Amino acid sequence: MSELRTVTVINGDGIGPEVMDATIRVLEALKVPLRFEHQDAGSEIITKYGTNLPPSTVDSVLRNGLALKGPTGTAVGSGLPSANVAMRKQLDLYASLRPVKSVPGVKTRYENVDLVVVRENTEGLYSGIENVIAPGVVTGFKIMTEAACTRIARFAFEYARANGRKKVSAVHKANIMKLTDGLFLDCCRKVNRDFPEIQYEEVIIDNMSMQLVKDPSRYDVMVTENLYGDILSDLCAGLVGGLGVVPGANIGERCAVFEAVHGTAPDIAGKNLANPTALMMSAVMMLDHVGLKEDAARFKSALLRVFSDGTQLTGDLGGKASTREFTDAVIAAL
Ligand code: NAI
Repeated sequence: MSELRTVTVINGDGIGPEVMDATIRVLEALKVPLRFEHQDAGSEIITKYGTNLPPSTVDSVLRNGLALKGPTGTAVGSGLPSANVAMRKQLDLYASLRPVKSVPGVKTRYENVDLVVVRENTEGLYSGIENVIAPGVVTGFKIMTEAACTRIARFAFEYARANGRKKVSAVHKANIMKLTDGLFLDCCRKVNRDFPEIQYEEVIIDNMSMQLVKDPSRYDVMVTENLYGDILSDLCAGLVGGLGVVPGANIGERCAVFEAVHGTAPDIAGKNLANPTALMMSAVMMLDHVGLKEDAARFKSALLRVFSDGTQLTGDLGGKASTREFTDAVIAAL
């Protein structure tokens, strides 16, 4: 018997509770050796806690080392940083991992997309250091450190090795940002020396965007800094049908948070219309991460069967099924 692990479960806002409930139903049907500890985060809890990320939630994730999270909204004008940004900072979730794979039954331009975007999550232009120099003149700082660049490069190569991947592409703009992106490339090259079996290449971000749209089969694992990674990961999601069908994880040395990459979808919240696939796929990643490989494989193949069958898809994918009906179909396919 596997040891019983505890997962911090954060429903989030909008459609978060619906897609989380659907995902937990499947995990319970699978009888996974996991216990669920519910905690709060997001804009809908600010009046209760005075913050969108209560310390009890952060403590819970640190204690359990593992969390499954629904989308959280950012209340405009609250003065608070987004719960996502705060969580990444407070938990030092330095690596954003987004595998992007074609889903059978979801029609897109390409059939066999199989890419992984590894994004540095803690610095770059997202450090949030911006200054007004004079009226009408503002600056933003791009911060890159050898420690963070080396850490993300190592994460990408180790991921490639552990998952039988052949190539790592470092995505950059070092031709223009010679010091910052230059440091990033130096670190990738150094780390690459420890992984001789993995092919390594460097591709400029604008060229990479075009090449991915023309022929995604040329790439495998991509590693990049924060801003390029943010854009590239959504571009890649678009190659397989959008944010509704791709999972995501934010990983640090002490804990890992698995989450759907879409937002709170306020337009359909509470209507039993949301597609829970992205969170379900994130749960599959989480099961893999904790070594529950058989459960992960069963969950994934049930999902793929529902997609191949195509009769119980939600509205965003052109179907008529409700969240509950889609989930019932996944459970029946287990
Ligand atoms: P969104 O992803 O919530 O919605 C964009 C469109 O996609 C909407 O039409 C929505 O109905 C649809 N959609 C999204 N997820 C869906 C699903 N699972 N099933 C069916 N349809 C789905 O993006 P938007 O409107 O830009 O953001 C809304 C809120 O979400 C904002 O407060 C934003 O800050 C937050 N957000 C949170 C994220 C997170 O917690 N990881 C990520 C992105 C946005």
